[in-house]
Amino acid sequence: MDIIIKDTEHIREAAREFINQIGDRRVFAFYGKMGAGKTTFVKAICEELGVDDVITSPTFAIINEYTIDKLQTSNIKHQSIYHFDFYRIKKIEEVYDMGYEDYFYSGALCFIEWPELIEDILPDDAVHVNITEQEDGSRLVTF
Ligand SMILES: Nc1ncnc2c1ncn2[C@@H]1O[C@H](COP(=O)(O)OP(=O)(O)OP(=O)(O)O)[C@@H](O)[C@H]1O
Ligand SMILES: [Mg+2]
Repeated sequence: MDIIIKDTEHIREAAREFINQIGDRRVFAFYGKMGAGKTTFVKAICEELGVDDVITSPTFAIINEYTIDKLQTSNIKHQSIYHFDFYRIKKIEEVYDMGYEDYFYSGALCFIEWPELIEDILPDDAVHVNITEQEDGSRLVTF
């Protein structure tokens, strides 16, 4: 499946398209270069799912938890969403220490940036999502 994000003004509709494809999958690994637009797209998805406080969440943490105030998407039953950014981890032990399994296998949505750094412990059924910046500045999302 391909989704084009023309620019940030069109990101919410792209997020909606993505959400329509989630089905019963819960763990999404977002691959893409620095600046490709991973964080921006994950945040748009979370907002579209009904999270109010995405913008104020810290961006420096390895894991951010967001709460969907009112569940509005029929197949999403967990109010928590976990957003990971593994860019700064130095050793996989840091990921073990934070108890990653409790999140990955919780049944809550997990959106992972820099999954390359934890490839060995990604769940088998994680969805691989690629984001690339096109020449015209739009983003191509493939999964
Ligand atoms: N769809 C888009 N259209 C235009 N600009 C975008 C789009 N998505 C993101 N950007 C811009 O690209 C820049 C980087 O985006 P973002 O921080 O989401 O990248 P990232 O992939 O998370 O990078 P990192 O690997 O550093 O975490 C931001 O300035 C953002 O506004
Ligand atoms: Mg990012």
